[in-house]
Amino acid sequence: MIIGSSVRHYEKVSSTNTVASALLREATPPEGTVITASFQESGRGQGGNRWESEPGSNLLMSVILYPVMVKPAEQFVLSRMISLAVHDLVSLFTPDASIKWPNDIYVRDDKIAGILIENSIMGEILGSTAAGIGLNVNQTVFKSNVPNPISLATVTGTCHDLADISGKLVKLIDRWYDVVIRGETATLEKEYHRVLYRSGKWHLYRDKDGRFEGMIERVMPDGILVVRKKTGKTAEYAFKEIDYIL
Ligand code: BTN
Repeated sequence: MIIGSSVRHYEKVSSTNTVASALLREATPPEGTVITASFQESGRGQGGNRWESEPGSNLLMSVILYPVMVKPAEQFVLSRMISLAVHDLVSLFTPDASIKWPNDIYVRDDKIAGILIENSIMGEILGSTAAGIGLNVNQTVFKSNVPNPISLATVTGTCHDLADISGKLVKLIDRWYDVVIRGETATLEKEYHRVLYRSGKWHLYRDKDGRFEGMIERVMPDGILVVRKKTGKTAEYAFKEIDYIL
C-alpha cells in the first residue's frame, strides 16, 4: 500500500493542507503520507472559502502524492480519483451518495464532503500534490453559511468512529490511486460519470446569462463541465461559471 505509508495525526493545525505543503517544502515526505487533525484553525475550502469543522467531530485529512505519471493538463484525474474514493466510503453507509462536479460529495441534495487538491507543477510534470479531504462525520449543527451541509451521523442516525472511517478511506484512496498509476483513465472517467450528481437529467442552473434548464452530459478530461440546453446546444463551464439551483 502506498497511501498511509506514514501517518501523522495532530490535535490542532491551521490546515492539514498547509501542513502538507510545509512538509513538502522542508523535505521529501514518503508518497502516501497521510496528515490528519482533530481541529483546523483555518480550514481551507475551494475558491478561498473557509472549511467549517467542530473540534474532534469530523475527518480532516491531507494526502501527499507524487503523481509524476499525470500530465499537468490531465490533473483533473486526481480530482476524479479522490472523489471516487470518498464517494465509495460514503456509499458504505448510504445508497444515496454522488459526486457533484467537480469534486463535492453529496448525499441526495446535501454536501457531506469537500475536496481541495493543491498541485505543484514542475515544467511538464506534476511534482507533488496535497489532496485535502473534509468529510462531515459526527457534526450535526453547522454554523457557516454553506447552504446544505450534512454529516454521516445525520444520514445514518448514529455516531461513527473517526479512526475506523479514516482507515477505510486510506484503503479506498490507495485502491483508486492504483488505477491512476496503471493509467486506467477510462475506468476513472466511466465510474465518475456513473455516480455524477444530476447527470443525464434536466435540472435548473444559472450561468452568466441567467437561469436555464440544462442536462449535464459529461465532464471533459480537463475538468470542464458540458451541459446541454433545451435549444439542443451545449455549453461548457469551468469551476464557478455555473450555479446549481438546488
Ligand atoms: C471545499 O470547499 O469543498 C473543499 C473543502 C476541503 C476541506 C479539507 S479539510 C482537510 C483539508 N485541509 C484544509 O484546510 N482543507 C481540506
